Amino acid sequence: LAQHMEHHPPKMEEFQGVLLPESTCQIWDQIHNFQAREDDILIATYPKAGTTWMQEIVDLIMLNGDVERSMRAPCFIKVPFLELNPKPMPMQSGVEAADALESPRLLKTHFPVDLVPPSFWEKNVKIIYVARNAKDCLVSYYFFQKMNKGLPDPGTWDEYFSSFLAGKVTWGDWFDHVIGWWKAKDHHKILYIFYEDMIEDPRREILKVMKFLGKDFPEDVVQKILQHTSFKSMKNNPVVNFSCLPESVFDQSVTSFMRKGTVGDWKNHFLDSQNLIFDEEYKKKMAGSGLDFRTEL
Ligand code: A3P
Repeated sequence: LAQHMEHHPPKMEEFQGVLLPESTCQIWDQIHNFQAREDDILIATYPKAGTTWMQEIVDLIMLNGDVERSMRAPCFIKVPFLELNPKPMPMQSGVEAADALESPRLLKTHFPVDLVPPSFWEKNVKIIYVARNAKDCLVSYYFFQKMNKGLPDPGTWDEYFSSFLAGKVTWGDWFDHVIGWWKAKDHHKILYIFYEDMIEDPRREILKVMKFLGKDFPEDVVQKILQHTSFKSMKNNPVVNFSCLPESVFDQSVTSFMRKGTVGDWKNHFLDSQNLIFDEEYKKKMAGSGLDFRTEL
């Protein structure tokens, strides 16, 4: 596999204006025709917004806080990644894995709202969208692309800064993504959650998710979920820290998947000049969106 990766670096392709893995585009019909079920739960995010964190929270909520059962398999097996075409790895595609799962299913996507398979809307599936401020997303994505061999090398920090701001990164433009889903929430069953709110008060946000899913637990169960999904617990939990993947897939000697888990790490990476450029673009692109992000707490 390592050898294959070396000789076939991952390719991206522009699809309906969005940069996607070429492997995903190759199975587009399979993805587009995916059959959602009424009791599915879909977690949708822009990459690095806290997908894995929300997955673990929702998995535990669906299991009524049964930590032992939450350890049944790594997160990428428990929660199929809808648009994943893992070739050359000997794994099922996201659609095949989802088809094989018993209901109720928890699923994951990084698609902008317009690319979501239509059956999710037809079946009125509950969707949880996690959004994270652009600056921390950029930093987290930069480090992730350095270690994830399934994504292109990010290039230098300067290069990546420009690519991200221009929306020329995999799964497309951050601005389009967060705004598209924000608008969609007025017409669909979408719970829109902010990573910064989860960091500020994880209990409050977990209760929101529980309510959205029609669940109510005694405080000791809530505390168990909180404890199990803290950054510290997740960093040491092989089910969610991707330590079972070989270096040829995720090279965690470069940076760990559970890297920092904070709000405001961008301050350690943005140059003052970049920050000015970013803020100016940000103002233009977010104007009138009604969306407010916090970049520090
Ligand atoms: P950093 O790279 O800033 O540390 P995703 O799952 O969407 O790929 O997001 C990964 C980001 O979420 C990483 O951000 C990771 O550290 C952070 N994260 C994962 N679990 C977390 C938790 N329990 N608490 C806080 N942050 C978490």
